[in-house]
Amino acid sequence: MADLEKGYQEWKENKLDKTVNNYGERKDQFSTGSNRPVKALYSPLDVEDIDYLEEINFPGQFPYTRGVYPTMYRSRLWTMRQYAGFGTAKETNERFRYLLDHGQTGLSVAFDLPTQIGYDSDHEMSKGEVGRVGVAIDTLADMETLFDQIPLDKVSTSMTINAPASVLLAMYIAVAEKQGVEKEKLSGTIQNDILKEYIARGTYIFPPEPSLRLITDIFDYCSKELPSWNTISISGYHIREAGSDAVQELAFTIADGIEYVESALSIGMDVDSFAPRLSFFFNGQMDFLEEVAKFRAARRLWAEIMKDRFGAEKAKSCMLRFHTQTAGAALTAQQPQNNIVRVAIQALAAVLGGTQSLHTNSFDEALGLPTEEAAKIALRTQQIIAEESGVADTIDPLAGSYYIESMTDKLVEEAREYLDEIEELGGMAEAIKAGYVQREIQESAYQEQKAVESGEKAVIGVNKHKEDSEEIGDILKVDPNLEKDQCQQLSEIRADRDSDITEKHLEDIRNAAINDKNLMYPILDAVRDYVSIGEICGVLREEFGEYEAKIF
Ligand code: 3HC
Repeated sequence: MADLEKGYQEWKENKLDKTVNNYGERKDQFSTGSNRPVKALYSPLDVEDIDYLEEINFPGQFPYTRGVYPTMYRSRLWTMRQYAGFGTAKETNERFRYLLDHGQTGLSVAFDLPTQIGYDSDHEMSKGEVGRVGVAIDTLADMETLFDQIPLDKVSTSMTINAPASVLLAMYIAVAEKQGVEKEKLSGTIQNDILKEYIARGTYIFPPEPSLRLITDIFDYCSKELPSWNTISISGYHIREAGSDAVQELAFTIADGIEYVESALSIGMDVDSFAPRLSFFFNGQMDFLEEVAKFRAARRLWAEIMKDRFGAEKAKSCMLRFHTQTAGAALTAQQPQNNIVRVAIQALAAVLGGTQSLHTNSFDEALGLPTEEAAKIALRTQQIIAEESGVADTIDPLAGSYYIESMTDKLVEEAREYLDEIEELGGMAEAIKAGYVQREIQESAYQEQKAVESGEKAVIGVNKHKEDSEEIGDILKVDPNLEKDQCQQLSEIRADRDSDITEKHLEDIRNAAINDKNLMYPILDAVRDYVSIGEICGVLREEFGEYEAKIF
């Protein structure tokens, strides 16, 4: 290495510095999307301290830096899983079948806000929101419509639902029962990640303690009844969307994961009984190389934590399997077609980073819900990367790059510093209560906004290469009569039910809540008899109370 060091210094003095003095460089300081300095050149000198077998190793080998499976996409491409949902269950079912017909290989349900915060469509809090940002689900009847003509033993389904996750998981199981599909055959994921809702996304209902209990109820239930179901999608996506940088996204997501593991251990679960079914969800942002390094760093960090801190013994307990969604925050309303290029770059980074499942945003999503045409282009983007670019035909092809490997190593180190800080504060739940995490994100978001407004950070069409007038293309509109129709359907279902049975179910749920019993069982019984999400969450609100966010 001494010769190399000498050679590098000679090159720097005689070539690089002289050229910079003569021609200058485009910027005084080059940095990554997360404001980490970027050198002009990386060489073996930047990776000499990295132990390949210890810190990188081969795919499917601990710590999985190069990928969780030995063959990765050579055996199976990532799941093309487009997040979709709007209007009524019928409309969303049509979009699901459209996407499946065009080659999508997994489902991903977007629920409207009333569903996400546990209100029925006819609740006063639901006014104007029914079916707007996702599909309206009140009772099992809506879920049956949502999955009409979709065999649940042939597809894996992700559900982006957190506070009322138990209710939607129960409804999904009840639909499968009606289709004659055994629970053991069900595969998919429930997001079920309440901590990031407090940090960034906001669709929480209950205070942290009962929320964590509901989450571990799902861990416990699935470990016994749903062996192929991923019980949580520990999400960094929304943390990044809230303005965090790549290191914070990585660190805060992993810290949430640690909190969930601790919670499950605290109710007596064995780490290897639930850890294999934990999954993750990251953002695909614009700095291509930093994002590839971030995904690789995430796998190594999680593997080392699961083994060294929690003593996990099963290989799958240490594998960080993740979904990626390309960055909504990177989409621009200006020159929207430019977003097709942005999404392609972000998707390519996710694939080179070894994602297991991928959602590509539609180019028109800065303007409204995606049109069918835009959703198809987004899916085709994945198919072109998969079938035409060649990057899926060999495993972790950017490995060995001096920049990628040194950046991967650096991100692990910097994320570890955050994790130590959070441990000092008493863990993630305490750090959130103290507002530490939110303040860190707010500071990053502020710096990012300043860089864009000053023009230091270019956003084409927004602060560079702007165009005066732009006509806005098609935008998907939700039927204004939707809310009325949905409420009408719900009252008919209520009228047809036996109210004594409904009351009995709600009493059982209340008793389980009070006596610390696993709530999945009485909730499943209740949804089978068309008890609604609002009625169930109403009882839980009475017993658990509601969380009031503090301004930090
Ligand atoms: N070799 C061997 N086996 C392989 C393989 C290979 N190369 N590739 C895949 N497999 C196997 C896997 O082991 C798995 O089998 P198993 O379940 O028995 O282990 C099966 O094939 C399926 O493979 P994956 O599990 O890798 O892929 P999935 O797509 O099924 O699961 C996941 C991926 C990340 C683990 C899962 O949790 C998932 O799908 N998550 C999606 C989450 C999601 O879509 N979230 C959207 C949120 S939208 C949102 O919140 C944003 C909004 O708020 C704006």
